[in-house]
Amino acid sequence: MQIRFADRRPEGDYALVLPVAGKDRKTLASLGAAQQAVNAGLDRQRFEGDASSTAELFFDDGGSVRRLLVVGTGSGSPSEAAEKLGGNAAAKLQTSGDKTAVIDLTGLGYDADSAARVALAAALRSWRYDRYRTTLKDKQKPTLTETVIVGADAGAEQRYTSRWEPVVAGSDLTRELVTEPANIIYPESFVERVKASLEGSGVEIEVLDKAAMEKLGMGALLGVAQGSIREPRLLVLKWNGGGQGGQPTAFVGKGVTFDTGGISIKPAQGMEMMKWDMGGAGAVVGGMKALALRKAKANVVGICGLVENMPGGNAQRPGDVVTTMNGQTVEVINTDAEGRLVLADAVAYVQKNFRPSTIVDFATLTGAILISLGHEWAGLFSNNDELAGQLLRVGEESGDKLWRMPLAEPFDRLIDSPIADMKNVGPREGGSITAAQFIQRFIDEGVRWAHVDMAGKAWSDKAGTTYDKGATGYGVRLIDQYVADFLEA
Ligand code: BES
Ligand code: MN
Ligand code: ZN
Repeated sequence: MQIRFADRRPEGDYALVLPVAGKDRKTLASLGAAQQAVNAGLDRQRFEGDASSTAELFFDDGGSVRRLLVVGTGSGSPSEAAEKLGGNAAAKLQTSGDKTAVIDLTGLGYDADSAARVALAAALRSWRYDRYRTTLKDKQKPTLTETVIVGADAGAEQRYTSRWEPVVAGSDLTRELVTEPANIIYPESFVERVKASLEGSGVEIEVLDKAAMEKLGMGALLGVAQGSIREPRLLVLKWNGGGQGGQPTAFVGKGVTFDTGGISIKPAQGMEMMKWDMGGAGAVVGGMKALALRKAKANVVGICGLVENMPGGNAQRPGDVVTTMNGQTVEVINTDAEGRLVLADAVAYVQKNFRPSTIVDFATLTGAILISLGHEWAGLFSNNDELAGQLLRVGEESGDKLWRMPLAEPFDRLIDSPIADMKNVGPREGGSITAAQFIQRFIDEGVRWAHVDMAGKAWSDKAGTTYDKGATGYGVRLIDQYVADFLEA
């Protein structure tokens, strides 16, 4: 989606989008002679300007017929209304036949950032992936290629290009990786796709192959990988925008490119969803891309543990004991609790090599978090109240919402093993918490750590304000906003 900012409406063909805040229809005055008819039309549709309500009409614009999309923005503040406005406009017009949407903000009092967020949401909402759809009828194909924002404050365009366009690019990358099936995206091809996407961005990339990980003794990650013919990878992304010195912040992602469950195999029903079990890694690479494109003044590393969890002839068995990079032993009770095994070695690696002050990991880790929080919030676990508070705030600001869950010693005891230092599963009850406790056992003294269980968020069965059904891009905006608020400020 091409975004433009302009002083006045262009000539020629376009669909006009007019926001209407509740019952106050003053923005319709710009329709001139057509205003009365449009007003009557809105009444007939029982349009009341509520947030996210829309009405589509056609009006006589100086002798030609023009499409008009009236979008209700409710009575909230511009900053609340902006993303709904841009998102709804893009959703309604995407396959309308019109190529250009002109969203006129004149007279609404949107500040530069709110106007830029209208564009942000329009760009995010219009992402789709048609690569494998060879028989789409013309009518089903998207037509909208350009959104023009008119009547925005000076500074809106600059705000969009410097702050939000990078986030769109990062989110697009995440969504693409999450959407691609597992025969296309596996550890090696994930790395290749990311390399191509980050070319020229200034992100430094390092890749560890299986031999390198064997040398380091990453027995937990490698144990998961050994049932698949696909080789695992550890992807390391470095963005040094903050100058010399200081400990970096690390973002770590679970990148299970397909999770069959391994020998503890999952039921067939719904297993296809496990192509997006790399959503945490997807969020990390998309977040890193956004940070690099907007030249964030911070030192950040992104680590992705990439494996495929398959029940091959060499797969690990329930009861196997593996040794992690930092020397702890794990009894693998259930090979389907693989994400924590991957993360254990990934966080051990990042601490040993980068000495980060703060680690935030992202993982589609447990079905249990869906039982706890459904699809609205991701679960947040942390060993540090200040970090947890920061992330909760950033969750609200970015829309990537978080709800804090507990960590405590009694839960930790539930993963003690009679044969090894720990086992990889606890009882069914509190399944997301014992999973988090497991990762915490690999966090060094004094490191601020948070874990985001986003199993309910990577994919959505229904469209939202800034995404269609499918990959949401969850986590990219959280990473971006955390860095903006707490590392750059
Ligand atoms: N990737 C799954 C978690 C998941 C489930 C993500 C549903 C998205 C939707 C994870 O690897 C897993 O299989 N977890 C098990 C853990 C159990 C064996 C302790 C689960 O949640 O059932
Ligand atoms: Mn699993
Ligand atoms: Zn998994």
